[in-house]
Amino acid sequence: MVRHFLSINDVSKEELIELLDKAAELKAGVKNGEDQSDLLKGKSLALIFEKPSLRTRISFEVGMNQMGGSVLVLYSNEIQIGEREARSDVAKVMSRYLDGIMIRTFGHDVLTETAKYSSIPIINGLSDLEHPCQTMADLLTIRERFAGFDGVKVAYIGDGNNTVHSLMLACTKLGIPITVAAPKEHEPFDGFESEFTTIVDDVFEAAKGANVVYTDVWSSMGQERDAQRRKKIFTGYQVNEELLSHAADNAIVLHCLPAHRGEEITAEVIDQHEASILDQAENRLHAQKAILLKLMS
Ligand code: CP
Ligand code: NVA
Repeated sequence: MVRHFLSINDVSKEELIELLDKAAELKAGVKNGEDQSDLLKGKSLALIFEKPSLRTRISFEVGMNQMGGSVLVLYSNEIQIGEREARSDVAKVMSRYLDGIMIRTFGHDVLTETAKYSSIPIINGLSDLEHPCQTMADLLTIRERFAGFDGVKVAYIGDGNNTVHSLMLACTKLGIPITVAAPKEHEPFDGFESEFTTIVDDVFEAAKGANVVYTDVWSSMGQERDAQRRKKIFTGYQVNEELLSHAADNAIVLHCLPAHRGEEITAEVIDQHEASILDQAENRLHAQKAILLKLMS
């Protein structure tokens, strides 16, 4: 049976930990100059983008190259899924040429629908609902910083979006408490909560004693026209020095990037916490290589 990775819930807790272990092993291998070019030799992955990308685009391509595979990048205007031809036909035809497909799209149904007709793995490179590849990099970064997840408390400040949805699912799987501070009308969607998740509207309550303070943009890709209105609603949901003074002394700051300095995070905080945020960006590469190996080898 072909396995897809559309949601954090597509892997069990054990698989999630195995993926993180594999990612750490691959990362150490790269640092030691190990030749990994046999791992996915001859495999081809398509990257389909209906939205822009820096990290996802580069980390998938570099990851495939390091493992001896190749990548084909397609922008939505080229294939026009569901417009030029039916999603089912696109999925079936692509399955004849390739070994895997990553899709960055708007509606999550594009992913589920494509997966339904695809005989090769489909990977979610971000949808309106989830960003599971990001979460794998977040977890790897947290685990590196705290040598595990025991006792780690996560605070997420801002929009209840794709990034936090996947993070909430992962925290639930691993038993990590996460408190999300979001304005009432921008809370995470229903269906992502659990006994390990708490939703509040007070940012200080969320940050209190947190070891990880995470934020993401107030307006996600596709919401740009609503940005001015959202800026007003989200004022106060900013990761700044004052907020961090409520977090644990050893708190790290994470941001999936791209960041809007002066909005969800101050320039001072992002610069001061550059080390963890750049590790997090780098870890996209290592975490995704583990995912690609699991699904495509
Ligand atoms: N964090 C992330 O997914 O970055 P890109 O949008 O640049 O791929
Ligand atoms: N929530 C953001 C994440 C970008 C990586 C977006 O969807 O635009």
